[in-house]
Amino acid sequence: MYGQISTVAFVGIEARPVEVQVRISGGAHVFAIVGLPDKAVAESRERVRNALHAVGLGLPYKHITVNLAPADLPKEGSHFDLPIALAMMVAMGAIAPDAIEGYAAIGELALDASIRAVPGALPAAIGANALHKGLICPAGCGSEAAWADETMTVLAPPHLLSLVNHFKGLQTLSRPKPRLDADDATPQPDLADVKGQEGAKRALEVAAAGGHNLLMIGAPGSGKSMLAARLPSILPPLSAEEMLEVSMVHSLAGELLGGRIATRRPFRAPHHSASMAALVGGGSRPRPGEVSLAHLGVLFLDEFPEFLPSVLDALRQPLEAGETVIARANHRICYPSRIQLVAAMNPCKCGASTPGQSCRRGPRCADDYQARISGPLLDRIDLQIEVPAVSAADLVLPAPREGSREVRARVTAAREKQRARFAALGAKGMRTNADCSGRLLEEIAMPDDAGVALLQQASERLGLSARAFHRVLRVARTLADLDQSEKVDRNHIAEALGYRGETLRQQRAA
Ligand SMILES: Nc1ncnc2c1ncn2[C@@H]1O[C@H](COP(=O)(O)OP(=O)(O)OP(=O)(O)O)[C@@H](O)[C@H]1O
Ligand SMILES: [Mg+2]
Repeated sequence: MYGQISTVAFVGIEARPVEVQVRISGGAHVFAIVGLPDKAVAESRERVRNALHAVGLGLPYKHITVNLAPADLPKEGSHFDLPIALAMMVAMGAIAPDAIEGYAAIGELALDASIRAVPGALPAAIGANALHKGLICPAGCGSEAAWADETMTVLAPPHLLSLVNHFKGLQTLSRPKPRLDADDATPQPDLADVKGQEGAKRALEVAAAGGHNLLMIGAPGSGKSMLAARLPSILPPLSAEEMLEVSMVHSLAGELLGGRIATRRPFRAPHHSASMAALVGGGSRPRPGEVSLAHLGVLFLDEFPEFLPSVLDALRQPLEAGETVIARANHRICYPSRIQLVAAMNPCKCGASTPGQSCRRGPRCADDYQARISGPLLDRIDLQIEVPAVSAADLVLPAPREGSREVRARVTAAREKQRARFAALGAKGMRTNADCSGRLLEEIAMPDDAGVALLQQASERLGLSARAFHRVLRVARTLADLDQSEKVDRNHIAEALGYRGETLRQQRAA
């Protein structure tokens, strides 16, 4: 007596095909699962036994072997319950083998045989579709699985019995409807709420336009967290392809609420007590970390120096490569993490070393505090600005006329310019100026003669390192794009030089 069905195992965001094979043979009563199962998979024995009992099927008192092939790929998670139960039912003759032949299945079983939602339905559906199969998944995951391909068959039963009835023709499971998160239109905070702070708002616009990382330094209450929370409202919307990319990661983390596909760019703001595993991913059961959950969106680290220095330095690789690699004993897992990092901090621990206020511990306090952020990490932040305390005169002003909608239109136009430029140059994988470096950057961002002269002058006077030089060029290119100008000119260079982060230790050392 033999039954089999396809399922998937997740390696990063990739869904690798796995065959669940069940053989029931004579001999001593044994129920064994082989093929590198983790604890959750091994425990599925009890859930499957009870779920089958709940639909009136007792497991035969025989030798039952469940093999998860390929045997050398580790199997993690509880989504193997449903495929094991289905292959078992075929082996027991409760379902015809050809009924499930064209399907892959994922789902966790409760003891009463209801099918519980599991993470990863979207990548699983994409994986099943690539194998030209339909997907059987829990009812709670149906609407995300339905996104994979509109022509593929998706069955999303709430209970094992409804699936059996569907196969017997007693009940029809209709295809779940794909849903978007825009369906519940919760309003986003708007830039028009911020009074004054024109400089900081401009820097936010530049950061959004070029995808640059941004560091804001300023006194407590100057509005840094407020500004950062408004960045998503001026970022361009996700393209259809990007929506799937973002949702794949969120699906794996079990964070697609109600199976709705993400239409907004993610904005993740982990607390500064976050561990390395929480921030970059990993742990005993690999999961995408905050840096991957922020893929194609914003990772906001408030109170930047309060994060553990080792945790912050772990961000360097994802920032550089746009992906996070987690090495395991026998394989490596890769999650996408193209993020825009926005960080905010007070100038010193007591938060009072701004002009007008004095810190009793003098410059030492600021030095010690800022030294918690390593130079190489700061080097990856193109825009570093001071956010001055907001004055009462600004706060009593009426709300500014320009809000997020207007700024977003400029940002979207600048991004479109970059996309077209990189496409024309054949620079694959580059979407924004922030991704650009080296020779290509010099080719697209070399300023006119007056700009070159200013850049040379500044380099000599300020002792710009090669890295800092490139940062200025990158930002200047974005400023020109915001102006819809092909050429980078002296004004763009001058403004870009202002975003170098003069307040920081790094500049003091230079
Ligand atoms: N420019 C502004 N316009 C309107 N309200 C502001 C402005 N700046 C600050 N506020 C008000 O002050 C509050 C505190 O701002 P916010 O939390 O952003 O400060 P912060 O710079 O992050 O401070 P901290 O360093 O303590 O985290 C906001 O919730 C807002 O009500
Ligand atoms: Mg704050």
